Amino acid sequence: MDTVLSGIRSTGNLHLGNYFGAVKNFVKMQHENRCFFFVADYHSLTTHPTPENLHNNIRVVLSEYLAAGLDPEVATIYIQSDVPEIPELYLLLNMNAYVGELERTTTFKDKIRKQPENINAGLLTYPVLMCADIIIHNADKVPVGKDQEQNLEMARRFARRFNHMYGVEYFTMPEPYNFGSELVKVPGLDGTGKMGKSEGNGIYLSDEPKMIRKKVMRAVTDTGPQEPNSPMSEPVANLFYLLELLSTPDTVEHFRASYNDCTIRYGDLKKQLAEEMITFTTPIRERIQEIYNDTAYLGKVVKMGAEKARESASKTVREVREIIGYKPF
Ligand code: TYM
Repeated sequence: MDTVLSGIRSTGNLHLGNYFGAVKNFVKMQHENRCFFFVADYHSLTTHPTPENLHNNIRVVLSEYLAAGLDPEVATIYIQSDVPEIPELYLLLNMNAYVGELERTTTFKDKIRKQPENINAGLLTYPVLMCADIIIHNADKVPVGKDQEQNLEMARRFARRFNHMYGVEYFTMPEPYNFGSELVKVPGLDGTGKMGKSEGNGIYLSDEPKMIRKKVMRAVTDTGPQEPNSPMSEPVANLFYLLELLSTPDTVEHFRASYNDCTIRYGDLKKQLAEEMITFTTPIRERIQEIYNDTAYLGKVVKMGAEKARESASKTVREVREIIGYKPF
């Protein structure tokens, strides 16, 4: 049995990229493995939320996780800040993480470009906290999207360094996971790049049908194929990618054929895509509302998750402290 773990920052609603990149895999794996899913609320502090926003964002992400099919009876679902062993392990790992390697991380360099006014040390050591999240339960498999590949590589590096430094085989090497196939990068509706929370190019699991139709009808396309079997531009290929995630192979084939013989009308493709998205998200959206309003249920889930997560995390931290050389007097 593998230990599977993943997390989502509590910085806004879940979009289809989060679902198909990570959550869908959890849902499939939770019954056969030892599974941990958590709300990464310490990670969200790098953007300085207000106290009200912090709390509400955690509630939103937790409700959406549960609505998307995570089962707190079989998996351990918890909030990062409920497990004080995580920041302790983070502190210990920070001593063996070098500023040079952290500065070279792509995500850190992106942040310097995007938010030069707030380059805090939390951003620099983000991969170390992520490593602590993962190895605190000795996870083998980490279902994530393509954008987290480098962070996973760093996690393996820090885990390997710890083993090497103390001459132990204590931590297992966590691998990013997507059922043996490539990690996915779900595209946004703006023609280029991935669907993201801050890019304004996404469809959220909580979006109303009207909103989904509006966003999809505005999606970027091109002037249409000029001759049979011409290659697709990136914006059009992205719409096909999304259709493939949500629709039947027959429907995809129908639109592909009409693209190849130049009879395609992008309006029809978008209408179909919007309806597929609505069919997919509607049952989840309805559950989100119900769960979000059920404070007693959320309280129960979080309490149960914290207990189970701390049991596993405190064992790791106790053993790590011993390995490092902390001893009782
Ligand atoms: P976050 O919150 O940005 O995203 C959560 C998960 O969604 C995936 N994802 C995507 N996958 C495919 N296509 C997309 N367009 C797309 N957008 C997002 C992400 O790859 C991720 O799996 N640092 C993490 C949170 C985290 C974590 C961890 C994850 C903290 N500690 C430990 C795994 C293990 C993050 O910011 O994800």
